[in-house]
Amino acid sequence: MTDLILASDRDAVRILTVNRPDKLNALDGATLQALHAAFDAAADDDAVRAVVLTGAGGKAFVAGADIARMSTLSAVEARDFSLLGQRLMRRMERMPKPVVAMVNGYALGGGLELAMACHLRIAADSARLGLPEVTLGLLPGFGGTQRLLRLVGRAAALELTLTGAPVDAARARDLGLVNRVVPAADLEAATMELAAALAANAPLAMRAILDAIHVGGECGIDDGLEYESAQFGLVFSTDDAREGMAAFLGRRKPAFNNR
Ligand code: CAA
Repeated sequence: MTDLILASDRDAVRILTVNRPDKLNALDGATLQALHAAFDAAADDDAVRAVVLTGAGGKAFVAGADIARMSTLSAVEARDFSLLGQRLMRRMERMPKPVVAMVNGYALGGGLELAMACHLRIAADSARLGLPEVTLGLLPGFGGTQRLLRLVGRAAALELTLTGAPVDAARARDLGLVNRVVPAADLEAATMELAAALAANAPLAMRAILDAIHVGGECGIDDGLEYESAQFGLVFSTDDAREGMAAFLGRRKPAFNNR
C-alpha cells in the first residue's frame, strides 16, 4: 500500500504531503488518522522546528473529505467522521511549532478546513479555495464554519459557506484567508524560505507565541494580557532569550537550541 502521508525533512523543516493524487488527496478516515500520527511525530521530534503541509500531484492541496467514502456512512458514523477530522485539526492548531500550509491547488471543503487549521497559509496564484459542502446538501464538518468565521469575519464566512462558490487565490488573500500568494512556479521555494526562517527562530518563544495567540482568541483582553505577561516571564528565563538578546547586542546571528 502506498503511504497516505509522505514525510521528509529539509534541515529542521518537516514536510508532510497528503498522498492520494488520483483522488485529489481527498480525506478518508485512514488519511485523517495517518495525518494525526504524522503531526504527533513532528511535535515529539526536537529536531523539527517547523512543519509544511501540502498535497501530492500538483493539482490539489486537498479537494475535501472523500465523498465516495462519506456517501456510505450512517448518521452516527458521519458524526464520528466529523469528530475524527475535528480532533486532527485541533491537534494541528495546538501544535507547539509553526505549521505552514503550502496551498498548491484546490483547497476545498475539508481541504480548506485543513489549511485553516495551519498557522500560516501560502498559496499558488492558481489555487482555488472554498467550502462547497452546501452544494452536496451538507455543511463543513471539520471545524470550517468556526475557523472561517474567526479568520475572515461573518459576512465573508456566510458568503463562502452559503454559496459554496470557491474563490481564487487573490480574493482569498484580500479576505485574509491566506497570508500570501505567489506564482505557482515559486510556491515551493517561497514556502521553504518562510519555513526555514521560522525554523531559525527560538522554539520556546514560538511555542509561547502560538499559545498566547490561541488563548487570546478564546478569552477576553484582560485574561489574554495576563497570560501574555506570564509567558513573557517564563520565556525570559530561557537560555535562548539570553542568547537572542546577547546576539543582538554583540551584532551577531543568534543560535537557538530549544533551552
Ligand atoms: N472525494 C472523493 N473523490 C474526489 C474528491 C472528493 N472530495 N474530489 C475529487 N475526487 C476524485 C474524483 O472523483 C476523480 O476520481 P476518478 O478519477 O476516480 O473519477 C478524481 O478525484 C479527479 O477529480 P475530477 O475528475 O473531478 O477532477 P476535475 O479537475 O474535473 O475537478 C474539482 C476538480 C473541481 C476539485 C472536483 O474534483 C470537485 O469538485 N471535487 C469535490 C470538491 C468538494 O465538493 N469538496 C467538499 C467535500 S465534502 C467535505 O469536505 C465535508 C467536510 O467538510 C467534512
